[in-house]
Amino acid sequence: MTDSSCSRRRVLSAAGAALAAGTLASGASAQDAAKDDKIKILAISGSARKGKTTAAGLQAVLEAAKAVSPAVEVELIELSGMKFEPPGSKAADDFEALAAKLTDPKVAGIVLGSPTYFANMSGLMKSFLDKWTVFRKGFALKDKVAASLAVGGARNGGQELVNESMKWVLMSMQMVLVGDGEPTVHRGATLWNQKDDVTADEWGMGTATALGTRVAQTALKIRGLK
Ligand SMILES: Cc1cc2nc3c(=O)[nH]c(=O)nc-3n(C[C@H](O)[C@H](O)[C@H](O)COP(=O)(O)O)c2cc1C
Repeated sequence: MTDSSCSRRRVLSAAGAALAAGTLASGASAQDAAKDDKIKILAISGSARKGKTTAAGLQAVLEAAKAVSPAVEVELIELSGMKFEPPGSKAADDFEALAAKLTDPKVAGIVLGSPTYFANMSGLMKSFLDKWTVFRKGFALKDKVAASLAVGGARNGGQELVNESMKWVLMSMQMVLVGDGEPTVHRGATLWNQKDDVTADEWGMGTATALGTRVAQTALKIRGLK
């Protein structure tokens, strides 16, 4: 057996396990979710430090999303402290519970947030996202809105590169990618951490707010809600 056929078998078997556990919901049940006229936007922080600047940036995104409409519910998930086995591993980890949350038909938008580590996403975020290969079987995240945020210790520390690297994963899921909307209109939120505080970064906070607004507006439009 070749290496590639072996690893493909492992991915398919992981996807099969997730399907058996009911974690990969199909698009059909998105209609059920729309029945209660509410949607949910999830933000996921890949920071090793709980409640620090990445979480603060994502909170600003979620507050802006919530302000768009009473139909929008939000939740912040922090990966800090969680463990993710390599894709294909049969060992238990924290992914399965998260997969169920992500594929919940009520979830209409997902915002990834990572600190900038050497101009790339954190290892924690990468090990989490590598598990997303299971979603390619049936494309359980298809047509959910996706966006990203990056925080760095320098104003131009590589935040845009972090957003770009997360974007490749989101695109591989057939998600609907958006950037920060008006007035900033760029390719995702980019924040500058100054002494463990992002709130003084007026521009960066503006991108976070514009991102949350754009994610919520687009998700509502896709679900035919206001
Ligand atoms: C291993 C490591 C690498 C880092 N590399 C960068 C970098 O390339 N560019 C940058 O602007 N900041 C860099 N930083 C700073 C973090 O991105 C910054 O402190 C961020 O706000 C941390 O997020 P947190 O508060 O959620 O932990 C690095 C920090 C660490 C620990």
